[in-house]
Amino acid sequence: MSETIILNSIEKKLERPQISSPILCELIAVSKEYSLDSGNVMALKDIHFRLYEKDFLSILGPSGSGKSTLLHILGLLSNPSKGRIFFKGQDVSCLSEWALARLRGQKIGFVFQAFHLLPSLNALENVALPLIYQRVSGGQRKRKALEALEKVGLARRSHHFPRQLSGGESQRVAIARALVSQPSLILADEPTGNLDTQMGKEILGMLKMLNEEGKTVVVVTHDVRIANEANRILFLKDGKVESLSSRGEAR
Ligand SMILES: Nc1ncnc2c1ncn2[C@@H]1O[C@H](COP(=O)(O)OP(=O)(O)OP(=O)(O)O)[C@@H](O)[C@H]1O
Ligand SMILES: [Mg+2]
Repeated sequence: MSETIILNSIEKKLERPQISSPILCELIAVSKEYSLDSGNVMALKDIHFRLYEKDFLSILGPSGSGKSTLLHILGLLSNPSKGRIFFKGQDVSCLSEWALARLRGQKIGFVFQAFHLLPSLNALENVALPLIYQRVSGGQRKRKALEALEKVGLARRSHHFPRQLSGGESQRVAIARALVSQPSLILADEPTGNLDTQMGKEILGMLKMLNEEGKTVVVVTHDVRIANEANRILFLKDGKVESLSSRGEAR
């Protein structure tokens, strides 16, 4: 597919009509400022944005435009400097660290470009790790982790350590780890950035499958081809929303 066709189809998505759908997460006038000795950086400026249930949103923008910062804020990993965040209708701006961690553990799964698997744990143990923090019993953890590995087609690699897995397999284990707590929201920061084209397609296919099963998925990417698979696209530039497509057809 040529770049022009891809960009045209992205423009069509930006024109889609608004329809009603439950809001999963809402950002109101959110700004994020990082303070450094050398000066302050305004990474996000006055962001107003709604993420809907069952959305498949892609975040595009140049390097340094604030994509990862926005993903961290959506994932309740980092507090905004200004503004408010609502998650499932609850104002989470004032929640304690403990309450935020609990909400994250139950509702949000993260996938990163560099996989972030623990090298000393095998695939099954890596996937089961989030359940330890939720005080799930040992037997249950193993069963749920195996189920999640089956979901990504990797049950046969459950005893492999990260160094014994290919890049694509490592990312599938990371997806299984994101899924194991049955979150409603999956956030992925350049999940195909370290993979070849074929593996990238497989990972994208997996995220699409999860979205079709009802999960809300947000993918940060530099690749317009990947962004084009989403049903909405948000462009960031210099920490501001340059454009945001309206909600597409209901699934
Ligand atoms: N912890 C931090 N401390 C200070 N400045 C930061 C920090 N994290 C990010 N920044 C700055 O905030 C801005 C946005 O960074 P962010 O990582 O969100 O960009 P990005 O769009 O994800 O970029 P990339 O595509 O390169 O990953 C950048 O100018 C960056 O230098
Ligand atoms: Mg980034």
